[in-house]
Amino acid sequence: MAVGIFDSGLGGLTVLDAVSRRLPEVPFVYYGDNAHAPYGVRSADDIFALTCAGVERLWQEGCDLVVLACNTASAAALRRMQETWVPAEKRVLGVFVPLIEALTERQWGDNSPPREVAVKHVALFATPATVASRAFQRELAFRAIGVDVEAQPCGGVVDAIEQGDEILAEALVRSHVEALRRRMPNPEAAILGCTHYPLMEKVFQEALGPGVRVYSQANLVAESLADYLTRHPEFHGTGSATRYLTTGDPASVTNKATQFLRHRIAFEAA
Ligand code: DGL
Repeated sequence: MAVGIFDSGLGGLTVLDAVSRRLPEVPFVYYGDNAHAPYGVRSADDIFALTCAGVERLWQEGCDLVVLACNTASAAALRRMQETWVPAEKRVLGVFVPLIEALTERQWGDNSPPREVAVKHVALFATPATVASRAFQRELAFRAIGVDVEAQPCGGVVDAIEQGDEILAEALVRSHVEALRRRMPNPEAAILGCTHYPLMEKVFQEALGPGVRVYSQANLVAESLADYLTRHPEFHGTGSATRYLTTGDPASVTNKATQFLRHRIAFEAA
């Protein structure tokens, strides 16, 4: 009954950590496409092809349900996958919608018409591909009216995290927050729209100041996955072991994952 968790690299581990704490009885198979990270600077076709390859590998592990713990793949590839590629007996879910449901104070899966919500000025931090897709604004418009979104493409941050360079990642985060503030001086909420960014959440919060509510995805995705599995128990799948797969070098990915999560998990070749 394993569930698959996909990311371009290390970022999805923030989601994996939260879902395994929320659903301790469920085995998870993690797939990090570290050999091809970052996705955020790739074309939509490229992201589609790489994401499909990773999801197929997770299906081979018996994961009938795969969560794309990657905003870039969710924004640039998920809709096309669902419309043209995912067979009827499998499911692939993204990480965008749970976040937007939380921001717009909705119950999971509430599809009623858009309405006014409390927040009016929202800062979105995401990869260049996610920002370019405008998927966040599209999903938000289905649920809320009158929300002003200012998006900052955070070039370089995922790369620095994947290289294990926390000092560079921190400097880049501060400069991206400053750049956003020049265009939106007083956001009420900030969305960390990339699953790598919770690894830098403290730096985002510090740079934004205590008055800005920072939304990060891991716990929201965990809650919505728990809810989904209660409603669709058939998607637990047949796999039964927790595994960590990478297309990169397993020893080096194991080291970096251990550095960021501050506990050891061992990767094997995908
Ligand atoms: N963690 C991904 C996301 O949520 C990754 C980005 C990348 O590979 O650029 O967007």
